[in-house]
Amino acid sequence: MTLKRVGILTGGGDCSGLNAVIRAITRAAIIQHNATVVGIEEGFDGLIFDRHQELTVRNTRDILPLGGTIIGTTNKGHPFEYRERDEHGNIQVHDYSKKAINNFKRLMLDCLFVVGGDGTLQIANRFYEMGLPVIGIPKTIDNDLVGTDYSFGFHTAVQIACDALDRLQTTGRSHDRVMILELMGRDSGWIALESGISGGAHVILIPEIPYQLDKVIEKIRLREAGGSPYTIIVVAEAACEAGGKEVTSENAAERLQGVKQYGGVGNYLTEKIKNEIHQEVRCTVLGHTQRGGTPVSFDRILGTRFGAFAVKAAAEGQFGNMVALKTPNIVLTPLSTLAGLVRKIPSADQLIESAEAVGISLGR
Ligand code: F6P
Repeated sequence: MTLKRVGILTGGGDCSGLNAVIRAITRAAIIQHNATVVGIEEGFDGLIFDRHQELTVRNTRDILPLGGTIIGTTNKGHPFEYRERDEHGNIQVHDYSKKAINNFKRLMLDCLFVVGGDGTLQIANRFYEMGLPVIGIPKTIDNDLVGTDYSFGFHTAVQIACDALDRLQTTGRSHDRVMILELMGRDSGWIALESGISGGAHVILIPEIPYQLDKVIEKIRLREAGGSPYTIIVVAEAACEAGGKEVTSENAAERLQGVKQYGGVGNYLTEKIKNEIHQEVRCTVLGHTQRGGTPVSFDRILGTRFGAFAVKAAAEGQFGNMVALKTPNIVLTPLSTLAGLVRKIPSADQLIESAEAVGISLGR
């Protein structure tokens, strides 16, 4: 079918490569279908509260290398369970899904492209089940989505972390220090493992393998005894000690949305090891730098391929699916199969095997 009007929204935490997808969808829809492209602003909020802008070849011209998303995003606005504080400060939960559907109909869209992670794509699937023609596009730095080999944003985050490790190597070695780098990734250790390997870390701690403190300390001491009195440790934000639990932090916004917020494991580890070893310990928390800035070329290409394929799938009426990378091809996979699943690093993964084979300690 020929597409006349299509909508795009980006939901959840941003990442590098979102604009490559927006640009690809806009160009493919216009060049191949002469369609009007509507950018829904700030995720599903734009659909609920009717905020949007037209996207054209001209206004998406220079956005390929640009981080973030030109149409905005939010990881707070859940249309089926929208949480707001009333005048007394109490949280009220509203179902705005009908409102969103009515606005979708008023916009007369043939398709809604939803670019997001696990949470956003599950919402997309609920709308699909209620009759909206939806196509999902997987995004997250965490790389924790089932059904696709990679989501865009991940390789950029790994590169940023790898660059940080290169810098921590030289300062750590100069001062004979233990340098800890805390990285994002939620319940998966992909960013930590890949950047740790590429950045020459000596210890990598991931959520999939609860670590033993004595093994971490042993590694530092062994390196010192072997004439290398500095150690680089990468720790994923949800890594936890064997028998312990994850380190989380809370703030008002998170309490409002009931979302768990990680953070603090690097400092936790610093406190735990600093009195057990001779060296000074310093902790760096890379935080949101992993999500910002220019995407690496892999993410620009993946975003472009996802966007172009999504437009093709929409023209074929293949709604209710997510575009996915099954190397080397882009394929479709049903949104329903996501179902809240988290893609963790399998225990027999070759990355884990390679890391340990070259002497990296995973704290076990
Ligand atoms: O899911 C992406 C991610 O960056 C996680 O790695 C991290 O735990 C979380 O989002 C941080 O979320 P926020 O931007 O709300 O602090």
